[in-house]
Amino acid sequence: MKKVVMFNRKGGVGKTVCAINWAGCLDIKYRKRVLVVDCDAQINTTTCLTLQEGDDAENINNISMLFKNSNYNVEDILHPIHLLDRRDKKLIDTNITLAPGSRELDNVDTSDMYTLRRFLEKCDDMFDYCILDCPPALTNMTINALCAADYAIIPVFAGRDSVSGYGMVIEEIDAMKQNGYNENLIVLGVLINALDRRRALEKYYKDLWKDTVGDGVIFNTAIRDSSDVPNAYEFGKPIHYYKPSSDVAGDYNNAVKEMIARIKKTEGH
Ligand SMILES: Nc1ncnc2c1ncn2[C@@H]1O[C@H](COP(=O)(O)OP(=O)(O)OP(=O)(O)O)[C@@H](O)[C@H]1O
Ligand SMILES: [Mg+2]
Repeated sequence: MKKVVMFNRKGGVGKTVCAINWAGCLDIKYRKRVLVVDCDAQINTTTCLTLQEGDDAENINNISMLFKNSNYNVEDILHPIHLLDRRDKKLIDTNITLAPGSRELDNVDTSDMYTLRRFLEKCDDMFDYCILDCPPALTNMTINALCAADYAIIPVFAGRDSVSGYGMVIEEIDAMKQNGYNENLIVLGVLINALDRRRALEKYYKDLWKDTVGDGVIFNTAIRDSSDVPNAYEFGKPIHYYKPSSDVAGDYNNAVKEMIARIKKTEGH
């Protein structure tokens, strides 16, 4: 299982929708078994992915259990996702499984930074990919996610604040590695999200990003600004289940393809 964390200290840059749509793409396009872990007490990923099943996202088994009792049963925490089929409106199986988040994550003791890693080790044979969604700060849960992951993708908006905040993001990842918390964590790249190609300023910022972090770090694919993204989220679906033929679903396909190629490169293929 390859573990990929969507990480940025900055809020509202698309970590959650990227995590959800990454999972949708790996499921529909690549037929991979995907585990999505919601590390954020805002539980946006959990609310979205459980909406269609009519589950109460606040009252399902979730990853706070990992921190309360180390004798948990792995299966109790894994929540296979079912989504409404567009044609006959019946719930269908997906290849996506959720390890739900909880508002309780803000209150339980999450200071053991390897709790999540130990849980994922137990799930290693069950999935091909694990996508971790993080809160917008360096909380204990973010540290748990960074300690558990093999790879980090940094979603950003094209604006100036994101560019100036990037240095801090990289410093934090470097500090994690230097302190020996997770020496193997690899930054796969920076993903420009919600790019409005019609605005000249956006082109300026895209170029600025390339100058700031280097051409090879930026994903060649930027995810466009599209109302299909919040719409799919509101309907509780990855874009690949909501509007698979949309241009923005194509962007996610291209970005995920790039991720797979970058992972292969790190493995020496
Ligand atoms: N490509 C896009 N096109 C249009 N809207 C987008 C796009 N990506 C994200 N958004 C919107 O931007 C908002 C923030 O996205 P999201 O919740 O994924 O960010 P986040 O980084 O997870 O936020 P937080 O830090 O609060 O967890 C949401 O309303 C989402 O629908
Ligand atoms: Mg989020």
